[in-house]
Amino acid sequence: MAIRIAPSVLSADFAHLGRDIEMINRSEADWFHVDVMDGVFVPNISFGMPVIKALKQHATKPLDVHLMIVQPERYISEFAQAGADVLTVHYEASTHLHRTVQQIKKEGMMAGVALNPHTPVNLLGDILTELDLVLVMSVNPGFGGQQFIEQTYRKIESLREMIIRQGAHCLIEVDGGVGPGNTKALYQAGAQVLVAGNAVFSAPDPAAAIAALKVLS
Ligand code: DX5
Ligand code: ZN
Repeated sequence: MAIRIAPSVLSADFAHLGRDIEMINRSEADWFHVDVMDGVFVPNISFGMPVIKALKQHATKPLDVHLMIVQPERYISEFAQAGADVLTVHYEASTHLHRTVQQIKKEGMMAGVALNPHTPVNLLGDILTELDLVLVMSVNPGFGGQQFIEQTYRKIESLREMIIRQGAHCLIEVDGGVGPGNTKALYQAGAQVLVAGNAVFSAPDPAAAIAALKVLS
């Protein structure tokens, strides 16, 4: 299966959000990546429910919502109602992760867990078979346009081994500093979904940049 590309709405032009949503709808992108930041878990504040509801009304592809917020369990049903299709919480932000994952699935969403760059993948060993997706952060979360952390390749490879060993079925998604220079190596390491913000929205032709990211040879 071809790699999935999830353009990050965080890098869109919020004054022309409708235009950028239509660009993603018409492009070869697979998902919309939607970064929610609370100013506590990460040193930045992005957007919340009203923006996600507006996105949902116009997006023709699934919303992949990445929560960079503390105690994400407080808002699971609200994100389901707002239109999230995939809901990813951070391992570092959720004390009762197993319960949180079950709540996400009960609300009919795909359940994802994100790992900060310093968090080892083996900490997911006792929950991996419950997950639909693992989001490997390849930058420290909080901002678009940061430099890719090279150690990520090793993490993806270990995660892929764990998934095979356990017979788990979760997708591996990578987020941060993804661009034309590393998509092929990420795919070879085992990544199945790539988030791209800056590489898409700073390109002169964002739809062409999305199409280029899908070409892996
Ligand atoms: C970072 C966010 C990313 C970000 C990626 O905290 O989770 O999704 O938008 O942006 P780029 O691709 O520019 O690194
Ligand atoms: Zn993200």
